Amino acid sequence: MTIEAATGPRVDYSRVFSQAIDRLHAEGRYRVFIDILRNKGAFPNARCFAGHNGPKPITVWCSNDYLAMGQHPKVIAAMEEALHDVGAGSGGTRNIGGNTHYHVDLEAELADLHGKDAALLFTSGYVSNEATLATLAKVLPGCVIFSDELNHASMIAGIRNSGCEKRVWRHNDLAHLEELLAAEDPAVPKLIAFESVYSMDGDVASIAAICDLADQYNALTYCDEVHAVGMYGPRGGGISERDEVADRITILEGTLGKAFGVMGGYIAADRTIVDVIRSYAPGFIFTTSLSPVLVAGVLASVRHLKASSVERDGQQVAAARLKSMFTEAGLPVMDTVTHIVPLMVGDPVKAKKISDILLAEYGVYVQPINYPTVPRGTERLRFTPGPAHDEAMMRELTDALAEIWSRLELKKAA
Ligand SMILES: Cc1ncc(COP(=O)(O)O)c(C=O)c1O
Repeated sequence: MTIEAATGPRVDYSRVFSQAIDRLHAEGRYRVFIDILRNKGAFPNARCFAGHNGPKPITVWCSNDYLAMGQHPKVIAAMEEALHDVGAGSGGTRNIGGNTHYHVDLEAELADLHGKDAALLFTSGYVSNEATLATLAKVLPGCVIFSDELNHASMIAGIRNSGCEKRVWRHNDLAHLEELLAAEDPAVPKLIAFESVYSMDGDVASIAAICDLADQYNALTYCDEVHAVGMYGPRGGGISERDEVADRITILEGTLGKAFGVMGGYIAADRTIVDVIRSYAPGFIFTTSLSPVLVAGVLASVRHLKASSVERDGQQVAAARLKSMFTEAGLPVMDTVTHIVPLMVGDPVKAKKISDILLAEYGVYVQPINYPTVPRGTERLRFTPGPAHDEAMMRELTDALAEIWSRLELKKAA
């Protein structure tokens, strides 16, 4: 039998794909991944494989391993021990063979961290947001989700996939949130979704005030603490622990890949809600569970940070020090109340150029941040100093930036 090709106009697939990439180049926001290896136990020192002259030593300034826990001896030892005890992978979904004792222990540890009945692990923070929000709104017929306009892409994806009605309130503008809540039918289920620390601007939500509105309008609350867990609060329970409001949040969400230094995501909530997500969320059910090696590392990290504030304190000191050095040098550092130190550039091509010069000439690695991670026209360099970035590294970085700012005739701070 011969198969004849259909006649008529044909789609030129390669042209469509090439045009999609060309558009990114034209806007100056084509993403280039920098090829690095971190030096075990010596973070923020790393090696860079860009270029052809072999690995070059660099200092990493943009890692979300905020407290260098991914290099902590206790974490590495726990992972080595688990690997030698139980092997590499979990071997299945949580339902079919992949529910290891490490997973059970870590969920108990995370529930305790946030003072909740239960917690549930996912393969990433992204998946935990997407799966939980999409499922929650499906279980609550007619649910309306109120979403801060700067919520992370994973929350937006979850809300979209839930198929429910969405109301977006202006970033951290609680008067606007109240206006939207008040306009809704009191009888419909409502969920307010927001972050505690907004990772690109470094500002913080007023959790207590949001919970007051939730009480007043009978809404549930969903708080993404991805950039705060491990980092804030006496035991690293996040801004909600620091502000003593964790008990007022219906569902807390976090990552295990940033301050905890490994990988994975989770929610913590009351027993029934966690059971609902466990039982209904496709993003939890139909995927191989995290490797027990990773989970063992996270367990060591969470336990360590519950008992030790040394890393948190060191990180806050480093962030404050770097902000003041940037300010003294006249660099346009954004005013943040958190550990995040962004320098506003406002142009994707210039942000990339600064980043390229820093890497090629100074051995400094900071990735430019552009649209869609931040709105167009607010492209920036985002520095995340940690407890292991010392004074000499900060001086070197500040001097390098000051030199580049003059060389490229960039705008200084007002
Ligand atoms: C606010 C926020 N939520 C969720 C995530 C996703 O977390 P993960 O990296 O663990 O997937 C991120 C990641 O950058 C984030 O910034």
